Amino acid sequence: MPVLANNGFMNQITDEGTLFFEQLVDKFVRASDFAVAENLHMKRDHSLRVAANCLYLAKALELEESEQAFVELIGLLHDVGRFVQFEKYQHFDDSTSEDHAALSMELISEQIFFKALDETEQVLLTEVIGGHNKISFSSKDSRTLMYGQILRDADKMDNWELVVSMLKRDGTFTLPTVSYNLPKLPAASEPVLKSIQAEKPVAKKDLQSLADFKLFLMSMVYDLNFKASFVWVTERQLIKKIYESMTKSDRVIDVYRKLRLHIENRLSEK
Ligand SMILES: [Fe+2]
Repeated sequence: MPVLANNGFMNQITDEGTLFFEQLVDKFVRASDFAVAENLHMKRDHSLRVAANCLYLAKALELEESEQAFVELIGLLHDVGRFVQFEKYQHFDDSTSEDHAALSMELISEQIFFKALDETEQVLLTEVIGGHNKISFSSKDSRTLMYGQILRDADKMDNWELVVSMLKRDGTFTLPTVSYNLPKLPAASEPVLKSIQAEKPVAKKDLQSLADFKLFLMSMVYDLNFKASFVWVTERQLIKKIYESMTKSDRVIDVYRKLRLHIENRLSEK
């Protein structure tokens, strides 16, 4: 397995990448009014937590120190395109704007620290960040595949934590953009329930209500890769808290049971 053997070089890349992130956030937040800045702060904090989650997983998977630092940097930078996206469109919906992962890579590939990486690392970073928000992720390269899986798990872990922290007593979220401004309808849609019955992540295109959005979030456990991720999400009871905020119909109770079984099976793996 090719390894970023030189810790000194990796430290330099990490420092420069972190500085790029800080300066970018600063530039966009400074140019924004209060409402926009609130959304941008949310994305900044998300990026910082995804970086921490990436590091947690890299350690759980016992990666070398230089690899841990690289994975952490990937977590920090994966969503930089969100800042450009929100400035241009005032929302985070890729389907009616642009692919934010592609926007992230456009920005990153212009940076000096990116150009200093060798080609293998550049390709890996492009595949991993470019693929972090796609329905599924695969790569012929085993290291790229693992990094992609780490980032996707780390991203989901934080999305769960973030939405749970934003849940209000009435079941809505403090920032409506979080749930794509979907209407507060209690009933779940048929295609959404069917996806979970089939043990598949719910597709974004099927979302019609707040209930659908919550099931969509919960169904992401079907695309979670590592046991350490299941441990993390279970310790925080995040799926349970999303479920508890929902109106319970028989169908919803049923699909939740299904989701819980999947989580329990993964937790019992060696
Ligand atoms: Fe993203």
